[in-house]
Formats: sequence, C-alpha cells, structure tokens
Amino acid sequence: MRRQPFVAGNWKMNGSCVTNQKLVAELLESLGDSSAAAFAVCVPHPYLDQVSRLLAGSCLALGAQDVSPHESGAYTGEVAASMLLDFACRYVIVGHSERRSMHAESDALVARKFGAARAAGLVPLLCLGETLAERQAGDTLPVLFRQLQAVLDAHGVAALADAVLAYEPVWAIGTGLTAAPEQAQAVHQALRQYVAERDPGVAAGLRIVYGGSVKAGNAAQLFAQPDIDGGLIGGASLDAKEFLAICQAANI
Ligand code: 13P
Repeated sequence: MRRQPFVAGNWKMNGSCVTNQKLVAELLESLGDSSAAAFAVCVPHPYLDQVSRLLAGSCLALGAQDVSPHESGAYTGEVAASMLLDFACRYVIVGHSERRSMHAESDALVARKFGAARAAGLVPLLCLGETLAERQAGDTLPVLFRQLQAVLDAHGVAALADAVLAYEPVWAIGTGLTAAPEQAQAVHQALRQYVAERDPGVAAGLRIVYGGSVKAGNAAQLFAQPDIDGGLIGGASLDAKEFLAICQAANI
C-alpha cells in the first residue's frame, strides 16, 4: 500500500512572535500545494493562535505538542483537546520522550492523552522510543511494544487507523546521533509487524515516521526505507532551509 509521507516539525519550547512569523513565511513561500506528502508544524501552546492565522488556507497543517487527558475542568495549566481544535489544530504529539522522562508521563497516561486527542477528532502523533541503556541491554523492541501495547489495551488496534506513530530513539534526539537508516528500518518493520499481527489492514496503512537528529543531509536516505513514512523533526525544523529540504526529501 502507498502511504502518504508525512513530515512534522516539533518546535519544542522555541520561538517568539517575531521568529515564528519569519519562519512560517519562509516555509509557505516554498511549500507547494501539489506535494505528494503532508506537512505540519507542532508549536508551543501560546503560539497556536498566531501560527493558526499564518497557516490558514495553506498546505501546512498545525499541531500541538501535548494535550490533557481531561475534557475540561479544574486542571490548572492543562490544555484540552477541544481547545486545540479551536485553533484549527489537526495533530497533537503524545508521549514524546521529553515528557515521558522530564514529566514522568507513564504509558497509561500517554494512552489516555491519545484517547482524548482522538475523541476530539485530532490525529495523535504517538511517540515511542528506547533509551541508550535499554538499547544496549537488547530491550529496544520490548520497550517499544510495551509503550504501544498500553495504547492498544486502552483503545484497540482500530484506533491506530487515524494516528501516526513516531519512532524516536531517545539516544538520537538532539544528540546529532541519527539511527542508521537500516537500524531505523528494522524497528519500523518490527512495529508494523506487531500491528499487523493484530490487524493487517491497519498496519498496511499506518504511517510510522522517524525522529531523532533528522537533517537535510540524512533525510532522503531515511525516508527511502520501505517502512519509514516520513519524519518528526526537532532542531532542524527551526531552520526554514533545513526543514524545507527535509520536506522535499519526503516528497517522493
Ligand atoms: P531532534 O530532531 O532535535 O533530534 O529532535 C527530534 C524530536 O524529538 C522530534 O520530536
């Protein structure tokens, strides 16, 4: 099955009204509507309004970086899925390793966030990834399957039909250490196989993107792998030229 490639920028906690305006203008100048791939930027919550206005009517979709598992109520500091929709978000990242590790997000909490996103009609970008210690201990796949299984237990395999998986090895994030294309492909293939054992149709259509030090210089090789359907881009998404080149590499 031909899956539409997908590239999303994860700005993390970067940007300002001034730099966002410049970055988005540069991206929109060069991103054509005719692309075979889909593109998005996941911005910090305070900038959703600004970037939503800048992107209106363009081929670049808007995403957020986190969502509350709750619908509404007394949850100070939290942002509900319905609020993200108010700003025309289409995507939301759930389970990023920075939230799992720095904010103690458990597999179960990530699964609840995934459910809240879907219930509101957002597309969850579910991040899965192993640490260096877990990889060295030979635990890469068990860790990823455990993270994924929490979502399958809570929502069933059919819930993946309108989600995107992002394999983000923790040791490759922001370190300049990219997984070798074959190394990433092996993991993506294993993840697709795990889903296929539960529902071959969902697995065939499921986009699994790679994140971790993707740059203009390594994107094409990564995206050429049969089970790598695009990327989730951190640092390089803050540089218009780099991000555009990565988008171009997915546009195959
Ligand atoms: P870098 O591209 O900066 O390594 O970050 C990857 C990432 O965490 C995307 O969500």
